[in-house]
Amino acid sequence: MTKLKAAVLISGRGSNLKSLIDACAKDDFPARIVLVISNLADAGGLSHARAAGITTAVLPHKNYATREAFDAAMDTRLKEAGAEFICLAGFMRILSDEFVRRWEGKLINIHPSLLPAYKGTHVHERVIQAGEKKSGCTVHYVVPELDSGPVILQAEVPVLPNDTPNALAARVLAEEHRIYPQALKMAAEGRTGPKQ
Ligand code: GRF
Repeated sequence: MTKLKAAVLISGRGSNLKSLIDACAKDDFPARIVLVISNLADAGGLSHARAAGITTAVLPHKNYATREAFDAAMDTRLKEAGAEFICLAGFMRILSDEFVRRWEGKLINIHPSLLPAYKGTHVHERVIQAGEKKSGCTVHYVVPELDSGPVILQAEVPVLPNDTPNALAARVLAEEHRIYPQALKMAAEGRTGPKQ
């Protein structure tokens, strides 16, 4: 089986990265991870990649004068690794339009809300404050506009009475770990996407 060569971009704890690593470890999974990039040297997720023997690259965004220069450095590393597809997994940098256009249709993200509702940050606080009865997560293709772009998969969870942002985040995260590998599988098999 020819596997899609995927890269994962992270900034933090990397629990979604771990779920992708575990899925990719299966023989019949149609993708493998060839590179993990973090913009922060202390991102916890790097240890998941290292433990799995995956090549990692730390590119501190502060070392680059512009967003475009940072993105170009990432692009170089992605090409060196032979990456054909990118999963954003808690990557906390906005990508330049140029980078997004270059990878359009091959660049996906996971967001902890039922998009198009609750784009941006502090999602769970806002969901609870608004009195929503349900929330969830979304895997979507990335387009230049933040947290927009065609949806691949969504999963819903209930918002419970007296929920705290942390409790809701944990409930949503469990679903993130389920649907992100599923969405990558669909994309790798060409069963989704704007460029089907
Ligand atoms: C997740 O909630 C994801 O939806 C959001 O950032 C968080 C990353 O968590 N984009 P982790 O680093 O994958 O554990």
